[in-house]
Amino acid sequence: MEGEYVLVVGSSVLEMAGRSIEVPQPGTRQQGHIHASPSGVARNIAENLARLDIDTVLLSAVADDELSEYLINHSRLAGIDCRHVLRVADRRIATSLLLYQSAESVTRLDDLSITAALDSDYLMEHEWLFRDAALVVIDATLSEEALDTLFELAQRYKARVCADPTAPRLARRLRKYIPNLFLIVPNASETAALCSLDEPATERKSAIGTAQRLVNMGSTIAVVTLGERGLAYADRSGGGYIRAIHTEVVDTSGAGDAFSGAVIFGMLNSVPIDEAMRLGVAAASLTLQSEDTVLQSLNPDLLYDELGI
Ligand SMILES: Nc1ncnc2c1ncn2[C@@H]1O[C@H](COP(=O)(O)OP(=O)(O)OP(=O)(O)O)[C@@H](O)[C@H]1O
Ligand SMILES: [Mg+2]
Repeated sequence: MEGEYVLVVGSSVLEMAGRSIEVPQPGTRQQGHIHASPSGVARNIAENLARLDIDTVLLSAVADDELSEYLINHSRLAGIDCRHVLRVADRRIATSLLLYQSAESVTRLDDLSITAALDSDYLMEHEWLFRDAALVVIDATLSEEALDTLFELAQRYKARVCADPTAPRLARRLRKYIPNLFLIVPNASETAALCSLDEPATERKSAIGTAQRLVNMGSTIAVVTLGERGLAYADRSGGGYIRAIHTEVVDTSGAGDAFSGAVIFGMLNSVPIDEAMRLGVAAASLTLQSEDTVLQSLNPDLLYDELGI
């Protein structure tokens, strides 16, 4: 693919994840294990890409405080170009609070109000970054106004756009842009929101069908991720299904973002679509074994070693 870097646009979040060490009992004070991680779907995908040696530029918004400084420093050390990240005075850094009731059940609180600062003006100021981007990657925290501008710029510079729908509540705002997408990677419940399904497709056949439906709606490639059941994918030439790798799960947070990052890494390296999907599964599997939202030791060799399993 032409272009020099991947331009990633969307949220940067500080994530706090807590687990009770005792049997959880609401309304009581308990011993817990609490872990803070740099996060945000866009930032996580950017970090996965940078750790896979892809030049990555991030457009995002943080506050003007020490926590934001920590988040940006971490991202910069991971290899992301953060020079254009917006610092917003008098605002709170985006934060997510995750409280795990069990490995599968989590209550999540998101405070992403600062992402409103990623508006059309900010994107227009960085119009020049769209010109040489090999790909543009977005999450769905962008406002409709920002999305309109982003797709206009992508069209102007013929940049292909990959989208992570982020959450069922946010996925709907991507619906009207599906014909402009190169790649969309929703999980089962985000797919239900995008395609207005009554029930999320969680089985192999129905998931391949919904991936094909997203392609019929206009995305060049669509992937429906199914957690421990793997994923279904489709493009104009057909579709397929790939199993997940059975892994000792330490923390599920960030698996989807690692998946998207590695699939994009594969596409930038012109690997066939099914191998790009397998790279995604390998990256997700590695990330599930780590408490961190992005695997800190990720690199291309490690990814290919996991693929060999
Ligand atoms: N419990 C699991 N066991 C094995 N693989 C898993 C598990 N959970 C996720 N994966 C892998 O990660 C991929 C993406 O996971 P999932 O469908 O949960 O995405 P997501 O809901 O977007 O995740 P995230 O919460 O990180 O955004 C799956 O296709 C699968 O390969
Ligand atoms: Mg996800």
